[in-house]
Amino acid sequence: MQDPRTQAIASTIRVVPNFPKPGIMFQDITTLLLNPPVFKDTIDLFVERYTGKGISVVAGVEARGFIFGPPIALAIGAKFIPLRKPNKLPGEVMSEEYELEYGADCLEMHVGAVQAGERALVVDDLVATGGTLCAAIALLGDCKKLRIHVEGLRETDERAGAEVVECACVIELPELKGRERLNGKPLYILCMRL
Ligand code: PRP
Repeated sequence: MQDPRTQAIASTIRVVPNFPKPGIMFQDITTLLLNPPVFKDTIDLFVERYTGKGISVVAGVEARGFIFGPPIALAIGAKFIPLRKPNKLPGEVMSEEYELEYGADCLEMHVGAVQAGERALVVDDLVATGGTLCAAIALLGDCKKLRIHVEGLRETDERAGAEVVECACVIELPELKGRERLNGKPLYILCMRL
């Protein structure tokens, strides 16, 4: 049974038709953030789920994983790692490309931010096709590409080697079947779309 708090959370997410493109029903979590008790319930529900699970790192996906990830990390006593879009991080980075509906994008993570064997939680606001979470899982656990700014992209055997325990999102677009792209990794969705 769903926690009764999830209904209020779902009701604060605004749906914006035809954004950013015609035909897209954009799930806007900024309206959830305007309601402090509901925002607190959102964080609390994640914290209740992940406290005591031995998670040492919370990785948040740019941009809205940066809103939900850090308070969860602080509450469960884990470090926070930003997974960023290309060319935003100043240090040596690992890169993982992923497919979009049209074209491709890439996530990057600082080398050394996570150690082999650490237990990681990936946080984002929403899963659609699952491409973004798939790239995050690959970066933390099984990354093959290392980019060094002075040398450009090169193939290496580097792997962060962390264990992704679960991916956690506030909401999903189940019709896009993103869950099926996560190579069997568990996906926790906080609330059902209304
Ligand atoms: C949205 C959302 C997820 C991603 C999910 O981010 O916040 O990160 O799309 O899509 P997927 O499951 O099909 O990969 P967006 O790409 O809009 O980037 P932004 O947060 O930087 O605006």
